[in-house]
Amino acid sequence: MTQLTGTPKRRVAILISGRGSNMKSLVEAARAPNYPAEVAMVVSNRPDALGLEWAKAQGLPTLAMDHTHYEDRAHFDCQLSSVLQSAKIELVALAGFMRLLTESFVAAWHDKLINIHPSLLPAFKGLNTHQRALDAGVRVSGCTVHFVRTEMDVGPIIQQAAVPVLPSDSAEDLAARVLAAEHKIYPSALALVASGQAVVDGDQVRSTPQVNQQQTLFSPPLQ
Ligand code: GRF
Repeated sequence: MTQLTGTPKRRVAILISGRGSNMKSLVEAARAPNYPAEVAMVVSNRPDALGLEWAKAQGLPTLAMDHTHYEDRAHFDCQLSSVLQSAKIELVALAGFMRLLTESFVAAWHDKLINIHPSLLPAFKGLNTHQRALDAGVRVSGCTVHFVRTEMDVGPIIQQAAVPVLPSDSAEDLAARVLAAEHKIYPSALALVASGQAVVDGDQVRSTPQVNQQQTLFSPPLQ
């Protein structure tokens, strides 16, 4: 990816609820001088989120917004939106943010709000994806970065990565393999969005980068 000298980086807020390993991968990628986005803020709805501590230690602006202190979802989302607007945030990346967002929040951040989900959407929306993938007997699983729409785990797909499901896998084994792929595609997908290379067209994303046609995963491998 190229970042023209003097081109301002897009200001990104990362929303987390827990350990924040995807946040970490975004923060680390954004340190590259030519990365098209900067992490301007990390927000957690859980004050005790491990990721928040890490972000603070990096010297990043952080904010704990304990959702239990708000009357309802609408009040929380309204406050969150105004905090983001005051900080001149241009893009919002959900990284293990374990809260459903209201329709008005999603509308306010339309095409500026992205999420990572640990399955190959549209398969296995929701929680407990890895055990459900194992129970279904799929041979390939993976992860998806997508624009957020009101319906959970639905929205134009920006990037996906596939990993094999091995016969001996526990849900934890599969989660670890998928997570390693998440850490690669989230920084890549955010860069595509921030640089204007991933543009929403109807229900889909039109990406300009050339795709290597040979990058195919067979699982089990072809004989
Ligand atoms: C990741 O698996 C992500 O795909 C899902 O929640 C998990 C968050 O993990 N949305 P982390 O907090 O980024 O480590």
